Amino acid sequence: MLEGTRDATKPGCKRILLTGGGGMLAATLVPHLIDLGHQVFSFDREHFDITDLAEVQKHFDEVKPDLVMHCAAYTAVDQAESDSSLSFAVNATGTENIARCCAAANAGGDAEIPMVYISTDYVFDGKSNVPYKPYDRTAPESKYGMSKLAGELAVQKHLKYYYIVRTSWLYGPGGKNFVDTIYKLASDKPVIKVVADQKGSPTSTKTLSQILGALIETGKPGIYHATDMGETTWYEFACQIAHGLPCKVEPCTTQEMPRPAPRPAYSALDKASLIEAIGFVPPTWQDALAQYMELMHQVKKPEEAALV
Ligand SMILES: NC(=O)c1ccc[n+]([C@@H]2O[C@H](COP(=O)([O-])OP(=O)(O)OC[C@H]3O[C@@H](n4cnc5c(N)ncnc54)[C@H](OP(=O)(O)O)[C@@H]3O)[C@@H](O)[C@H]2O)c1
Repeated sequence: MLEGTRDATKPGCKRILLTGGGGMLAATLVPHLIDLGHQVFSFDREHFDITDLAEVQKHFDEVKPDLVMHCAAYTAVDQAESDSSLSFAVNATGTENIARCCAAANAGGDAEIPMVYISTDYVFDGKSNVPYKPYDRTAPESKYGMSKLAGELAVQKHLKYYYIVRTSWLYGPGGKNFVDTIYKLASDKPVIKVVADQKGSPTSTKTLSQILGALIETGKPGIYHATDMGETTWYEFACQIAHGLPCKVEPCTTQEMPRPAPRPAYSALDKASLIEAIGFVPPTWQDALAQYMELMHQVKKPEEAALV
């Protein structure tokens, strides 16, 4: 558990219970929320298993949160195809456990505890050719997408005061992600192939953390779409990551590179309502990526120096 705040008495400072504290988003989100002045009680899976309702209630009783930031999830998209029971246990039942405990505060006479649920572009079928709006029809094609949508429905069933925040193509420090994988492959191999027929929007955990920090101040619950600005293909994204490396990045089709879980062919998300609510426009995916890569190189430098 990590707890921190600059000034716990600052007006607007919240006690935030954060699940999935060992994950990639949490690695950037927790320090950001602390920087904003909140008290953050962050738990990893070992210390807080969301599939156990009694354990969830115990953490609520101990922390007495003003808000819950629910980042824990089963994120192994391909594995979920053969092991959907675990993905549903975590993403649907685990999320429902959190929502139940947020709602239970009402029974005690207080207002329900606001809940932020991070969801995904995989709730859409990818057959659109214009960015999906928050209340467009959902139709997930993968087991992971179905389990995340079941989580969304559980949140909506139990609560009025929720933020469902769908994001996509997430990367950042502290987790396995596409940017690090491509950078490593492109550093080691002369040629790599990357799919060029799936379009979406990359999102840095830094951008998403800034959005979440702003959204919880708005007092405007609902479903939101939160990504970096612009859309691209995995191939173009990889070209940008590998820029300057001597590796040739070649386009290929999804058919040439089959994976167990179907991916949406198009999953750009419309952010108009988000931008209206938070009052700022996220950076372009190219700017966010450049910032991340600069940070990546700064972190690498001491190691490289040690190798000389
Ligand atoms: N990564 C993406 O591209 C992407 C895209 C769209 C949406 N999202 C959503 O964004 C959110 C954050 O994703 P992320 O990339 O930070 O994922 P992540 O790195 O996989 O983090 C998720 C965390 O949840 C934990 N967890 C798994 N089962 C749990 C359980 N039963 N109880 C408590 N914790 C459990 C995991 O612990 P272990 O590692 O120990 O299993 C992991 O630390 C998730 O809701 C995800 O669905 C991610």
